Amino acid sequence: MHILVTGGAGFIGSHLIDALMEQGHHVVCLDNFSSGRREFIAHRLEQGLKLVEGDLLNPNHIRKAIKGCDLVYHLAANPDVRRGAEDTNVHLGQNILATYNLLEEMRRQKIATIGFTSSSTVYGEAKEIPTPESYGPLVPISLYGASKLAAEALISSYCHTFDLTAVLYRFANVVGPRSTHGVTYDFVNKLRADPRQLEILGDGTQKKSYLYIEDCIQAMLFAMDNRQDRVEIFNMGSQDWVDVRTIADIVAQEMNLSPSYVFTGGVDGGRGWKGDVKIMRLAIDKLRQMGWEPSCGSAEAIRRTARWIIESL
Ligand SMILES: NC(=O)c1ccc[n+]([C@@H]2O[C@H](COP(=O)([O-])OP(=O)(O)OC[C@H]3O[C@@H](n4cnc5c(N)ncnc54)[C@H](O)[C@@H]3O)[C@@H](O)[C@H]2O)c1
Repeated sequence: MHILVTGGAGFIGSHLIDALMEQGHHVVCLDNFSSGRREFIAHRLEQGLKLVEGDLLNPNHIRKAIKGCDLVYHLAANPDVRRGAEDTNVHLGQNILATYNLLEEMRRQKIATIGFTSSSTVYGEAKEIPTPESYGPLVPISLYGASKLAAEALISSYCHTFDLTAVLYRFANVVGPRSTHGVTYDFVNKLRADPRQLEILGDGTQKKSYLYIEDCIQAMLFAMDNRQDRVEIFNMGSQDWVDVRTIADIVAQEMNLSPSYVFTGGVDGGRGWKGDVKIMRLAIDKLRQMGWEPSCGSAEAIRRTARWIIESL
């Protein structure tokens, strides 16, 4: 197949491109390198990956990249949940308008299928944990979560109005090699700056599920292959969770350090920042019943990620 991956130079996108090219597909990457890195896709460029350096906010760039494609994986976005509290425009543009521009071009060029990377943040503070795909009402507490929910709604409405099909991936936190943001990355950098003391945002009890990147990519491909409905939603996470204090312990162990911890106390009852969901674990029964299983739990995913960041960045 001819496949477009938006945000293909980013953390998850570059791994997806690796997997798609290993399966023999022809892949185009559309990326503006706002957070993506050339070195993540350099090896694939040598093997025939087509790169369109461009922005989803410019329809001409999308038109150029999407021509002749059968399928689109739409990953390009601003993934920084915290940003929304400082800049109320960023997620509106990068996550909602960008998705609209892409859908418009898919409609015009009659490209039938989209895989979209949504997020657990669409659930807001779910009262049911683990949270299943059927949970509602969906009440996001961050502008990022709102933008993902808006994008899901746009995609769904395009599917029903213009005969597209979609897979909506609701990810827990995804971690692993090439991860350039998130708590593990922050802790390694803070400990490099000051090995004796680690500042932890919030009260340290925030507890979430982490999915290892290889599991994430396998789940994405598996869900795309096994989708049945016009718009199919899949939660993707590991089966357990880990709290922030334990993540600090794992990172410190991997760096052979014994720092003291300084908790900021956080906002709104110990959250790291405004809009931070304190407790998150997704029910992954739907995918498991279809035959997919994650290979490792949250703590192991964090450990492997910490090792990679320490060795490679
Ligand atoms: N990493 C996670 O834990 C996680 C969890 C839930 C959902 N997601 C979603 O998965 C997707 C990938 O996330 P990631 O962690 O790989 O982030 P990332 O920042 O590494 O990748 C995003 C990529 O999109 C590109 N990009 C951003 N805006 C663009 C634009 N307007 N035009 C073209 N390219 C643009 C960036 O340069 C980057 O390469 C995002 O949609 C994110 O919201 C990630």
